[in-house]
Formats: sequence, structure tokens, C-alpha cells
Amino acid sequence: MTQEIEIKVADGVQVIRFLRADKKNAFTGPMYNAMSEAVDAAETNDDIAVTVFLGSGGVFSAGNDINDFLRRAGANANDTAKGIPTPSLDFIRRLPKVTKPMVAGVDGLAIGIGTTMLLHCDLVYATPAASLRTPFLDLGLVPEAGSSLVGQMRMGYPRAFELLVLGEPFSAERAHAAGIVNKIVPAEELEATTLKAAKRLAAKPREALMTARRLMRGSPAAIDAMIDAESTAYRSLMVSPEAKEAFTAFLEKRAPDFAKARASAKK
Ligand code: COA
Repeated sequence: MTQEIEIKVADGVQVIRFLRADKKNAFTGPMYNAMSEAVDAAETNDDIAVTVFLGSGGVFSAGNDINDFLRRAGANANDTAKGIPTPSLDFIRRLPKVTKPMVAGVDGLAIGIGTTMLLHCDLVYATPAASLRTPFLDLGLVPEAGSSLVGQMRMGYPRAFELLVLGEPFSAERAHAAGIVNKIVPAEELEATTLKAAKRLAAKPREALMTARRLMRGSPAAIDAMIDAESTAYRSLMVSPEAKEAFTAFLEKRAPDFAKARASAKK
């Protein structure tokens, strides 16, 4: 079990906290695996009624670890082409199938999956410093975690396109206006507010809580199918010259040169 995910259960609430603040809580394979195990545990453990996601160090998450993207584009390109499941996809596939409520408390940056996982949560609280960003296109990729569909369901097509494709950062206020965030609270009240809401849910009659959630969400089949379509697109885009250039440029702390990457791929 990785030290970079902390899991605690109390009062019917499972808290999953990201503890990789030195890397802005970017998710590695072991972190995804730990989250998948926790999400599975919530499904089977009667002591858990609600799962809460929290960041640390003033950051929610910088999204998928880009070193992992680079490995999938380079050393593990054959596995990528064959569609061998990754810890991130394993986690993502669980999100629409969860049957108990998920609540998030967001302070600071929420990037990539750090934003798209919020679209699967039932309640989201954020601080004024929260900033949601999905730079998928700038990395040569497409939106993931079913966000191509859930984004529109949550906020309508124009705002979803602005966030997910244009890559426009959404401040806490914008995310609140778009319907992704329930309430903006001061940083010092974020955890208390998030946990209080989770505990209120956990104290409700369990069967009615899960049934209400299922009725309100409807079937996860369409989201599941979108995750399939997104991951097929991901597999081919992940190994494109432009994506490799974007990942390398980030890790080398320079601006990407997509035209040069395209030109050298043609040689
Ligand atoms: N994957 C891997 N490492 C990451 C990371 C990620 N997604 N996000 C941040 N880090 C690392 C940085 O490489 C840096 O490591 P170093 O100290 O060893 O150099 C450390 O975290 C701190 O990040 P830094 O970029 O120095 O902080 P910043 O405050 O200037 O910028 C971000 C923070 C999050 C805006 C910036 O790191 C960023 O854009 N990250 C990539 C986000 C992204 O594209 N995620 C994928 C979404 S699909």
C-alpha cells in the first residue's frame, strides 16, 4: 500500500486523502490502485456509507502523473496499443458504478482527473483558491473518465466544451456557477464542511440513500460506453508525436513544439 494515499474510516465516512503534495498530488499507478481498493471496500463494507476525497498542501490533484503518460507513450507503447488496462483506467471504470455517495473537498488546483473525478461526486465543496483545469487537448489527448458525457450532463455543452476542450481554467466561482461545485467555503472550513455533509448523508437510512442516488443518476451504461470510446481514442493519441512532445516538454520544463514533433515524425 502506498504512503501517498491515506484512508481512514469513521462515523460511516471513508476519507481518501492524497498525500503527494511535493508533486502537487499527481496520481501514480499505486495511488490509483489504493483508490480503487478503497472504492471497492466502500461497496462491500457496511461501516462505510459515503466516500470523501480530500487533497493536501493546498492542492487537490495535478491529475495523472505525466511520467506515467510518458512511459505509456514510450517504453510501454506495446501494452498501450494492445489496450492492457492501466491502474488509472481501472479506477476510472469504477467511478460510474459506485453505489454509495462520493463527496469532495477541493482546495487549490484540480487538474485533469482531479477535475473529471469531481463530475462523478454527489457533493463538491471548494475554497476560493480552487481552480479546475483539464489540459487534455494541450497534451495531445482527449477528455477522460466519461467527462465527454458527464461534463455535458452537469453543465451543458458550451461550458463543458470550454472547460474540457478549450482548456479554460474554472475558478471556484465559475465552477459553482457551472454547477460542479455546491458551495464555496473559506479554506479553514473546507474539511469540516465536507465531513459534516458526508456525515449527514451517512446518518440517513442507508437503503433509501443508495436508492435515491441510483434513481437520480440513472443507468451508468452510457457513461461506461463513453469511457470505452475515450480510452480507445486515448490509446492511439497517447503514442502520437504531439502527445510525446507535450509530456517530454512538461518534464523538461519547456514549451512544447508541436510543429517540430510532427515534422520529425514524417522524416
Ligand atoms: N505529473 C508529474 N509530476 C507533476 C505533475 C504531474 N501531473 N504536476 C506537477 N508535477 C511535479 C512537477 O514536475 C514538480 O516536480 P519537481 O519539483 O521534481 O520539478 C512538482 O510537481 C511541482 O510542480 P511545479 O510545476 O514546479 O509547480 P507549479 O506550482 O509551478 O505548477 C502545476 C503546478 C500543477 C500547474 C504544474 O505542475 C502543471 O501544470 N502540472 C501538470 C498538470 C497536468 O497537465 N496534468 C495532467 C492532466 S491530464
